Amino acid sequence: MEMEKTMQIIHSPEALHSVCAEWRRQGLKTALVPTMGYYHAGHASLISYARSVADKVIVSLFVNPTQFGPNEDLEAYPRDFEKDSALVRELGGDVLYAPEPENMYAPDHATWVEVPALANTLCGLRGVCTVVLKLFMLAQPSLAVFGEKDWQQLAIIKKMVSDLNVPVEVVGRPIVREADGLALSSRNVYLTPEERAQAPQIRKSLEMAAGLAAGGERDAARIIEAVRGYLAEHLPTGEEDYISIVDPAVLTKVDRIE
Ligand code: PAF
Repeated sequence: MEMEKTMQIIHSPEALHSVCAEWRRQGLKTALVPTMGYYHAGHASLISYARSVADKVIVSLFVNPTQFGPNEDLEAYPRDFEKDSALVRELGGDVLYAPEPENMYAPDHATWVEVPALANTLCGLRGVCTVVLKLFMLAQPSLAVFGEKDWQQLAIIKKMVSDLNVPVEVVGRPIVREADGLALSSRNVYLTPEERAQAPQIRKSLEMAAGLAAGGERDAARIIEAVRGYLAEHLPTGEEDYISIVDPAVLTKVDRIE
């Protein structure tokens, strides 16, 4: 109950900056959990982890327009501010930072951060890197917590932080899954009942790939073909964007698994 009374909702970058600067002056350890809202148990696990390691927990809730392509789901992205803020309060967050897009991006915004070497082979993450670095500059946290569900995002943020000497420890936390193995995601609400029923097959196809590698298969192309075949059979409504086997640190495609 004590925690519930003290959470602040902040909308302006200046206010976030000054609250966090005061905590730093007091020598407190601060943790930032960047999110786009519509919380599920995966977000809750990130916030709870932050709560367990830091004196002050800042959760940012911002559906970042610059990381959506022109034909992506920015407008449709699910939102529920009341429920989300109640959860952050319940989990002991100290600040919920919820800016409007115009607070985060001036009309003449012209600076972008990207890590092309880690983005070229998969989807690009310029908008993510830019907003995450802006959040790091505003909050200047001791650590920031991200889910491992988006492995590429986590790897890119770690690389950005290392290359730019950003003094923030980036922590990745394990995926949280439904009972049938589907990774929790705010976007799962888009699935029709039929797609939802088939979606756990994605994880099964990855487990099959891991099993092949564990059994001695070293040829990446053969494993990818096996995954493709499995998905064609078990996920008939799915449409492949890509299936890649990459080095987990640098995300370059590998031909042989070492
Ligand atoms: O993973 C997300 O929810 C977003 O990409 C992030 C890290 C909050 C940046 O907008």
